Amino acid sequence: MNYPGKNPWPGLTGPALIAPSLLSVDFARAGKQIDQVLKAGAEVLHVDIMDGHFVPNLSMGPPVVEKIRRYTRAPLDVHLMVTDPEFFLEPFALAGADSLNFHVEATDKPVELIGRIRRMGLGVGVTVKPATPAEAIAPVADLIDLVLVMTVEPGFGGQSFMETMLPKIEAIRAMLAETQRLEVDGGINPQTARRCRDAGADVLVAGNNVFAAPDPAKAVKELRSAID
Ligand code: DX5
Ligand code: ZN
Repeated sequence: MNYPGKNPWPGLTGPALIAPSLLSVDFARAGKQIDQVLKAGAEVLHVDIMDGHFVPNLSMGPPVVEKIRRYTRAPLDVHLMVTDPEFFLEPFALAGADSLNFHVEATDKPVELIGRIRRMGLGVGVTVKPATPAEAIAPVADLIDLVLVMTVEPGFGGQSFMETMLPKIEAIRAMLAETQRLEVDGGINPQTARRCRDAGADVLVAGNNVFAAPDPAKAVKELRSAID
């Protein structure tokens, strides 16, 4: 099987990356808004996949990811908020994901899933919900490119950042090598991005702060100046 994606994480240099979340994009003007945020310096596009079971919301499926893939060369960081990640790895890899993040809460076979994503040539991330402790990633910490720490309950954009996640970010950073990425997702704005950065995060997902702003490009630049 031919998977079009390519593990983006080793190729992305620089101390911290900005990943606007397409959950908040205006889909009627998605191409224009994607161009704006990439031109403003965002390095990655974060793609939220919700199945209505793992989280009480639905978002997009493989056909939408495929269209985005055809539109842009930017790395697609696919965050699977699904009950059955095993089933969905293949369709999203075929649709053009460059990195697949699955929730540790959603599987009892994380090592197997990691192996499958690796064999597809994609970046590998594991994600933890707010109630899941840092230790949950210990068994797989050496096998992955990235840990995604949810800083809100997954399911919806526009929620407030949970500052109680900051110690967990620090604890997970201490478990990772310098070459591994720590991503935060939920309630990220210039202020919370700075705090996450100080705690050790180096991929900042932002949905509403970027795409609900009157000027998404300006919002990306403001995030950049807050984290550099
Ligand atoms: C929430 C998603 C996020 C969401 C973040 O479940 O995983 O990626 O888009 O949105 P904001 O930045 O608005 O909190
Ligand atoms: Zn997400």
